[in-house]
Amino acid sequence: MPAEQPARRTVVVIPTYNESLTLPTTLARLRAAVPAADVLVVDDGSPDGTGALADAAAAADDAVHVLHRSGKQGLGSAYVAGFRWALEQGYDVVCEMDADGSHLPEEMPRLLAALEEGVDLVIGSRWVPGGAVQNWPRSRQVLSRGGNTYTRLMLDLGVADATAGFRAFRAETLRAIELGAVASQGYCFQVDMTMRVRAGGGVVREVPITFVEREAGESKMSRAIVSEALWRVTVWGVQKRGRQLLGLIRRR
Ligand code: GDD
Ligand code: MN
Repeated sequence: MPAEQPARRTVVVIPTYNESLTLPTTLARLRAAVPAADVLVVDDGSPDGTGALADAAAAADDAVHVLHRSGKQGLGSAYVAGFRWALEQGYDVVCEMDADGSHLPEEMPRLLAALEEGVDLVIGSRWVPGGAVQNWPRSRQVLSRGGNTYTRLMLDLGVADATAGFRAFRAETLRAIELGAVASQGYCFQVDMTMRVRAGGGVVREVPITFVEREAGESKMSRAIVSEALWRVTVWGVQKRGRQLLGLIRRR
């Protein structure tokens, strides 16, 4: 008989900004797909009342928790706040997921199963064999593929989908990262975290997922988010090359 695995305490962090049309269904589907996992909604004072919907879900279900923040402060800082809360609460596994239905809650068990002993971060990837995107506008596909190609050239992280937001981290891996130093506000937060896990010698595994474009509400992707990603990845890449060059000089 295989040895019993001790039950891992898991929490799924869901950042929200104006997701009143999709959050209730996403929460219901997630609770059904992974009943053992708790949920933390991190809402940035959504004007559309998403925060109140999250509170209602929390009142009806002990496994659902809510963090309210004042005003839109970016995906990166929402996750940092959520991770801090999760680590304080003593969870063993901390996941990331979007609220808009793009990440299928039914695929979360596959991410969790891939977080085996020795794996630090599992990324639900659109751009590995078996991964897919549905109904995503051509422009977004080009942006995502282009962004990942640029990231690979600059940082060589060994992952096909470095900007993906469907993830499972081992809590110890997050604990080893100085979260206060994570300055990324927008979607480059995902690249930032991947880089920090790899820099600490962490093992990253990608599992194929199907990303389905939202059917309601709006994307928060903006020109500012793209430009932040571009300059940060460029700076990180230049710093990395600089370190490599210094290493070569010292070795001679
Ligand atoms: N609290 C908070 N604050 N949540 C936010 C903020 C913010 O400033 N900005 C976005 N969110 C939430 C959204 O409400 C949603 O639940 C999730 O973050 C993803 O935002 P979307 O606006 O739906 O992102 P997308 O579909 O355009 O982008 C997807 O692809 C990106 C590029 O690959 C997501 O999967 C991103 O995570 C990914 O980086
Ligand atoms: Mn989305």
